[in-house]
Amino acid sequence: MKDNKDIVIVSAVRTPYSKFNTAMKDIPSIDLGIMVMQEVIERVGIKPEEVEEINYGSCVVAEFALELDVPARQATLLAGFPVENISLTLDRACCSSLTALRLCIRAIKAGEVEIAMAVGSENMPRTPHLAPGARWGTRLGHLTLIDPLFELGYHAKGFSPVAVDAGEVALEYDVTREMQDEWAYKSQQKYANAYAEGKFRIGEELMPVVIPQRRGDPIIIEKDESPRETSLEALAKLRTVYGSPTVTAGNAPPISAGSSAILVMTREKARGKGLQPLATIVSSVASATDPRDIATIPALTIQKVLDTAGMNIDDMSLIEINEAFAAMPLVSTKILAKGDEKKWKELQEKTNVNGGAIAIGHPVGSSAARITMTMAYELQRRGGGYGVAAICGGLAQGEAIILRV
Ligand SMILES: CC(C)(COP(=O)(O)OP(=O)(O)OC[C@H]1O[C@@H](n2cnc3c(N)ncnc32)[C@H](O)[C@@H]1OP(=O)(O)O)[C@@H](O)C(=O)NCCC(=O)NCCS
Repeated sequence: MKDNKDIVIVSAVRTPYSKFNTAMKDIPSIDLGIMVMQEVIERVGIKPEEVEEINYGSCVVAEFALELDVPARQATLLAGFPVENISLTLDRACCSSLTALRLCIRAIKAGEVEIAMAVGSENMPRTPHLAPGARWGTRLGHLTLIDPLFELGYHAKGFSPVAVDAGEVALEYDVTREMQDEWAYKSQQKYANAYAEGKFRIGEELMPVVIPQRRGDPIIIEKDESPRETSLEALAKLRTVYGSPTVTAGNAPPISAGSSAILVMTREKARGKGLQPLATIVSSVASATDPRDIATIPALTIQKVLDTAGMNIDDMSLIEINEAFAAMPLVSTKILAKGDEKKWKELQEKTNVNGGAIAIGHPVGSSAARITMTMAYELQRRGGGYGVAAICGGLAQGEAIILRV
């Protein structure tokens, strides 16, 4: 069962995820990336020169454009990785950091490198407005400012806001607004319980963000900022956003900053270094479907990764489906249950057992690695098992990974 050629996760860490308007909003995503890249190797005593390839997902392009381009290359150099380090900045929307991990897996399997790192980094609140036309001036008429964060819907090219597609498709699957609010309520409750049990404290997936101040003590952020108390009544009163029939500020994730990093190598290499793997990667795939069907893509990608691994959803003790909105885990578990209501409930019980992005936050490029490590640490606590994590990304792209602990 344990093959020397297995690819294992030996270290995984993230920053806390911020709220919209707090101290982290001023830290460039590159700097957040540097923090996790340094921490993920320090924790296991790996030196920067041992990491041969770093794949780095970041998809709010307008934010890192403040530092121009190639954030991966900038971050690796500033974090102290050698000039020879191979890095790649990639944008597969919210899927990006799992895509980064999949590329690391490929590189190791191809024998190109032995140790690789996947990073996801985003600072959505720092995103500036864009002023197209400002360079050449406006001969006559208004100069327009564009907010790249607003609606997150690619409407310049005729696509709908994600919240509209997710809400409409959810209703087509008979996943109502009430069900989405109930999922959101449980996400907050599950996170609160997990936090009370010490699961989201510094040391496992979390590292602190330290922000030096000109005068006085630094600001230290040690926990996710978005989780909040709520009630079904309060959720029901919220109005829908972006023209969606069901999505509200309560059943959507907040707009966040945060970074995550995962370090991988072969089992043989880990053994040689005396490192205890956090999890073994069983299989990892990507997929895509009709852009409007974004709420269904986690299910389709989970089915694809299960088929690739020759496994069944019932083999999984845990499921993570990113709460891009509450619609995604609900629609996707319903598809996976294949019309069996009892099975649908069972799958929901196994999904996001410590809460999800609605409570934790969703710095888009970072979240895929976050759900992967959240699941790995939970499998560890439970003494082992298999888990599958899946995420949807802009215009219905998907990534999924199966882990064994
Ligand atoms: C949904 C969204 C527009 C809300 O933005 P916002 O209006 O700045 O959010 P706020 O936190 O101020 O919440 C709005 C209101 O709802 C309330 N609210 C939010 N969550 C709540 C909850 N769980 N329970 C009760 N009330 C809640 C807030 O208190 C606030 O009330 P107020 O107006 O009386 O102060 C924004 O978070 C967003 O765009 N999220 C989606 C991001 C996204 O698309 N990510 C990618 C997915 S693919």
